[in-house]
Amino acid sequence: MVLLRKKIGVVVTGGIAAYKATELVRQLVKAGAIVRVIMTKSASEFITPLTLQVLSRHEVLIDTFSENDTEHVQHIEFADWCDLVVVAPATANIIGKLSNGIADEIASTTLLAVACPCLLCPAMNTNMYQHPATQRNLKRLKKDGYYLLEPDTGFLAEGYEGKGRLPVITQIVEKLESIAAKHFYPQLLENKKVIVTAGGTRERIDPVRYISNDSSGKMGYAMAKIASFLGAEVSFISTKDHFPMMDNMDLILVESALQMQKEINERYAQTDYVIMAAAVSDFRMMDQAEHKIKKKDQENEKILWELIENPDILAELGQNKKQQVLVGFAAETQNLIEYAQRKLKSKRIDWIIANDVSQKDIGFNSKNNQVTLLNEKGQVVNLPKMEKIDLARKVWEIILNDPIIKD
Ligand SMILES: Cc1cc2nc3c(=O)[nH]c(=O)nc-3n(C[C@H](O)[C@H](O)[C@H](O)COP(=O)(O)O)c2cc1C
Repeated sequence: MVLLRKKIGVVVTGGIAAYKATELVRQLVKAGAIVRVIMTKSASEFITPLTLQVLSRHEVLIDTFSENDTEHVQHIEFADWCDLVVVAPATANIIGKLSNGIADEIASTTLLAVACPCLLCPAMNTNMYQHPATQRNLKRLKKDGYYLLEPDTGFLAEGYEGKGRLPVITQIVEKLESIAAKHFYPQLLENKKVIVTAGGTRERIDPVRYISNDSSGKMGYAMAKIASFLGAEVSFISTKDHFPMMDNMDLILVESALQMQKEINERYAQTDYVIMAAAVSDFRMMDQAEHKIKKKDQENEKILWELIENPDILAELGQNKKQQVLVGFAAETQNLIEYAQRKLKSKRIDWIIANDVSQKDIGFNSKNNQVTLLNEKGQVVNLPKMEKIDLARKVWEIILNDPIIKD
């Protein structure tokens, strides 16, 4: 979403991971970006320019002196065209050249002319990466304002483990998204602290069983991601740990409602916005069994477990509210707006986001959502069905009363 219509220059240099640039270009195009590619001569030993030309739908620049356009010098035109540049994979060689201002072929020459944000993704043999010269060059480039994505540790093409692998492409795209947001989104939540809760809590029955619900954490994650795009410092208190964290986002992994409550309370006094997107279990076991509960001998025998109500976290936050803006979610299967209004009034919260979780294609676990926002002043905003990340953006726009992102 952040990359929609962004002009991205992809510079591919001659490492073994050059073949992965195909997937990078594909994913950027899929994200709505306009992509142009430059390749070094060495990169074209690993992968053909034709592949990247087809995937990017643009001519690939490979030679500084193949000047066919009398109006423009191609490397300057390319550099000026870009909103963002990514060098992936970035060889030890290009890193060395860039940190020393060398411009002796198309990639290094263009990179010196680039004035927009630039992300470097080094990928090489682990000894090449650890070499003091490479480390010195990277340090200098960081100081010069380049963004760096550290390589992963894992099995290298050389046949042994080490640090030097190109990170998975989704991670490169996510890094580009957060760089784009930082530069192109207004930083409306700069210096603001935001708590976002996500996922269904798990209330233990015994060491191997629990009571939970279908909440996937996707809506909460989308809210947290947009908050981080707007410059907030985000505490993401979640029961799910598979979401990639953005630069200014901390994952606080919890399991039960009580753990979630403790983590929120520790941060609440210093927080500006609390987005309670987690589906907190209303009940927990009165007594959690220490060992796995054994099956009874007789079939159809009745088993009675005592449940106790969990604390109403949102209502407690409402009672202790000072500067905080409180946003709750009301997931209902019937009488949606009526229940949401009741929740809004009884809990002293600022906004309630009501969603109907009885429909299969929206709400819990699905990619899309459709919600109605209600606030304590009686404002009601119906939003149409859309992807959760787009919805999160709209919701923040409404809460902040600012059309933050102009499409
Ligand atoms: C099979 C093979 C794999 C290579 N893999 C890498 C690599 O992953 N990273 C790297 O920095 N250099 C790697 N190199 C060395 C670069 O290709 C070499 O330093 C070249 O000069 C880089 O040119 P460029 O930076 O202009 O693309 C590899 C070389 C060969 C022959």
